Amino acid sequence: MADLEETISLQDLFKTLRKRFVLIISAVILAVTLAGVVSYLYLTPIYKASTQILVTQKENDQQYNSQDIQTNLQLINTYKLIIKSPAILSIVAEKLDINTSPGMLNSQIAVNSEQSSQVVNISVQDVDHRNAVDIANVTAEVFQEEIKTLMNVDNVNILSPAVHAQNPSPIKPNPLLNMAIAAVIGLMLGIGLAFLLEYLDKTVKSEQDIEELLELPILGLVGPIPNNEGIRRRRERKGRWLKKKTKLETAKRKLITRNNPKAIHSEQYRTIRTNINFSMPDRELQTLLFTSALPRDGKSTTAANAAIVFAQEGKKVLLVDVDMRKPTVHHTFELMNGLGLSNVLTRQATISEVANESGTEGLDIITCGPIPPNPAELLSSQMMETVLEEMKKAYDMVIFDSPPLLSVSDAQILSNRCDGTILVINSGITEKDGAVKAKEVLASSKAHIIGAVLNNFKIDKDHYFYQYYGTVE
Ligand SMILES: Nc1ncnc2c1ncn2[C@@H]1O[C@H](COP(=O)(O)OP(=O)(O)OP(=O)(O)O)[C@@H](O)[C@H]1O
Ligand SMILES: [Mg+2]
Repeated sequence: MADLEETISLQDLFKTLRKRFVLIISAVILAVTLAGVVSYLYLTPIYKASTQILVTQKENDQQYNSQDIQTNLQLINTYKLIIKSPAILSIVAEKLDINTSPGMLNSQIAVNSEQSSQVVNISVQDVDHRNAVDIANVTAEVFQEEIKTLMNVDNVNILSPAVHAQNPSPIKPNPLLNMAIAAVIGLMLGIGLAFLLEYLDKTVKSEQDIEELLELPILGLVGPIPNNEGIRRRRERKGRWLKKKTKLETAKRKLITRNNPKAIHSEQYRTIRTNINFSMPDRELQTLLFTSALPRDGKSTTAANAAIVFAQEGKKVLLVDVDMRKPTVHHTFELMNGLGLSNVLTRQATISEVANESGTEGLDIITCGPIPPNPAELLSSQMMETVLEEMKKAYDMVIFDSPPLLSVSDAQILSNRCDGTILVINSGITEKDGAVKAKEVLASSKAHIIGAVLNNFKIDKDHYFYQYYGTVE
């Protein structure tokens, strides 16, 4: 069972690779560039030169028989050892007048012969091609001479001496080969890193995460809303640096259901509305609280758009900003925040006095009002209960935009008084631990959690959502 749970599907693997594609490609490019730079700039080129000698048994023999050839081959093995012996190499070093020990020369020289061939190859590697040529040729010559005294035979001929070249090309390094190897290593490292990051990433990323971890129904998925409006505004003001992203830009994006009801995101909010409507068939859902674990998860965006789509459905809706620490609803709907909920809760104004028209038919807004020093106290007061009842009498649906659950207790207090609470999860940002904690906090205050909204969720083209709503423009 545990095995089954931990099995990662092939689809997940591809998803990870696709998600971290840029990382993987960057790793490959980095590795190839590094290998290129090191190969071309830092590694000393090594040149190789070879001299071929032919070993025969008898100089003047007209014909070899197979016996002779066999003997020759045994001889060649002996010769290979002799060529690299200090006896020969010390004379080579002397002749070349180079300050190299026979041991060093030995490591530069390789002697080999093809099987059943009497041709012996003396190859020399050196940082200087000329040196390599000289060492190879002198070694062959010295050996040819010395073998006469060493073995009392004269059966070595130089077949083809090494030659000096104008533009010799080094045998090492081979930059292309190094870069190809680096590409493979980079690819493997990139893929490894991608999976490591995925493993270390403890954020909620998918509907499955929510279902398995929080055991909450998914009310809907909202994709990242493109910031087209913002880009246009910035161009309009070209030449002048904006202090920060203007509130208006954000407001435009936030109210996609009003600004572009045909956008796929608006359809996503309508799906959330449908799911909320269906979530409690037996019980009337009149007061709804939108909250999340941490700041900037998308509570206000979701609450505002949900309020608009409920109003578009024909309901009389009231959106109330109960985020009395960092209120944003007045920015979103471009309203003044002179009078608001805090005035009502302190008996300075009535609901009808503070309710604003939103610009969307059927939707009224109550902003936060002057920020009070004791929001939690106000929200848990008897007055809040009374205000809530009044709101319920005047509207079909009351939606609250609240502060984050794990920062302050305001949302927790209010969740207990609302018919339903909706947990907004910021895909890829909300930590699993945080989401679980948020749910526990709500559960401890006996909130009725209707479900979760997965915000900023990049919907795949092959996701079921696309198959139904993908054509909506
Ligand atoms: N689906 C989305 N696509 C693109 N941007 C989004 C989306 N949801 C939220 N944002 C942006 O993220 C920022 C935070 O969103 P929002 O104000 O709704 O979060 P919040 O949870 O209410 O934050 P706070 O805790 O500060 O009240 C805003 O700039 C908003 O425009
Ligand atoms: Mg907010």
